[in-house]
Amino acid sequence: MSMLYSKAVLGPLTLHNHLVMAPMTRNRATDNIPNVLMVEYYLQRATAGLIISEGTSPSPNGLGYPRIPGIFSPAQVEGWKRITDAVHAKGAKMFVQLMHCGRIAHPLNLPSGARMLAPSAVAAGGEMYTDAEGMKPHPQPQAMTEVDIKSTITEYAQAAKNAVTAGFDGIELHGANGYLLEQFIRPNTNQRTDGYGGPIEKRARFVLEVAEATIAAIGEDKVGIRLSPFGVFNDMPLYDRMEADYTYLAQKLNARELLYIHLVDHSAMGAPPVPDSIKATFRKLFKRTLLLSGGYDATRAESDLAAGKCDLIAVGRPFLANPDLVARWRTGAAVNAPDMATFYTPGPKGYTDYPALQK
Ligand SMILES: Cc1cc2nc3c(=O)[nH]c(=O)nc-3n(C[C@H](O)[C@H](O)[C@H](O)COP(=O)(O)O)c2cc1C
Repeated sequence: MSMLYSKAVLGPLTLHNHLVMAPMTRNRATDNIPNVLMVEYYLQRATAGLIISEGTSPSPNGLGYPRIPGIFSPAQVEGWKRITDAVHAKGAKMFVQLMHCGRIAHPLNLPSGARMLAPSAVAAGGEMYTDAEGMKPHPQPQAMTEVDIKSTITEYAQAAKNAVTAGFDGIELHGANGYLLEQFIRPNTNQRTDGYGGPIEKRARFVLEVAEATIAAIGEDKVGIRLSPFGVFNDMPLYDRMEADYTYLAQKLNARELLYIHLVDHSAMGAPPVPDSIKATFRKLFKRTLLLSGGYDATRAESDLAAGKCDLIAVGRPFLANPDLVARWRTGAAVNAPDMATFYTPGPKGYTDYPALQK
C-alpha cells in the first residue's frame, strides 16, 4: 500500500498526496510581478499535493536576484492570485516561500531606493549574476540597525497577510540556503554584539521574531519554515556548534507551534552530507509536520515515509522537468532530465515546454 500517493494531512489541510513541489527560483517574473507564463508553469504541476512557490521577496530590499517575484505590491498580489486560483482549481494546495535575500544580492538587481541589508557588513565570497552586467562580485551589505530589524519584521508580517489575500494556503519562511534568516542564525554572517548576535539564543532571535510576527498576522496553521542545517550554500561554512544550534532552533520552533519544518539536504547536489542525527533530532523535538527534501526518487520517498522519518516529501528538480511527475512516478514511466542551462533564463524554454506523457 503506497503512502506517497495517498491523501495526507497538513494541519487543517488535506493534500491529495504526500508529494510536495519544493520551492524553486525560476527568474521568469519580469519586473518582479507574477505573470501568465508562471500561471501555466504552476498549473502544469498541480498534481503535487502541495506546491511551495519559488522564493518570493517580502520587501524591495529582499529582491537580490533578477526577475524574482515579490509579494509586497498590489500588482504582485494580483499576479499571485491568478496562480493560486489555477492551482486550487486542480485540487492542490499552495504556500508562498518568503525569501529575503539579504546579502545575496547586487544593487544592479535591486529596484531603485532598495538597500542590501544583512545582520553584519560581511560580504559573501564569490560572484552573482546580474541582467545588466553579467557576473559581479558580491558587494558588502549594510549591517541592519535595530530600526531596520523592526521594519523588516513588519514587512514579513505584511507579506504574510498579502499571501492570504493572494489566495495562498500559507507561507514558508526561507530560513535556509544562506539567505537573510540563515544569515542571522550563522556566526560567520552574524557578528553583531547587540541582542540579535552572539550566542545562539541571540542569533536565533530574529528568526523567532519573524515567526511570531507572521503567526500573529495569519495564524500558526499557515506558517512553516525551511532550514538547512549543515548547508554551506552561499558561503556559509560548517562550524563546531552547528548541531547544538539547530537543536536549539528545533526546540524553540516547536514551542512556537509552527505548522511545519522543511529540512534541506543538498548532498545529492554535491554539498556536504547532512547527518541523519540532525534530521532525527528535528523529528523527535518538533511535534507538528516534518518535510524532508533533497535527492528523492519514488522508492526512497516511499521508504522514508514508511519508516516515519518525516510526514511529507518535497521534490525539486524532478518536478521542474516533469509537469506530470506524480503520474510518471506512480506508473514507473521514464522521466525527463532537467536542463540546467534554462533553470534561470527568461521565457518558456526549459520552463513550460517539458513534455508530459501522451494520454
Ligand atoms: C532551479 C532551482 C531553484 C531553486 N530555488 C530555490 C528557492 O527559491 N528556495 C529554496 O528554498 N530552495 C531552492 N532550490 C532548492 C530546491 O528546493 C531543492 O532543495 C533542491 O533542488 C534539492 O531537491 P531535489 O534533489 O529534489 O532537486 C532550488 C533548486 C533548483 C534546482
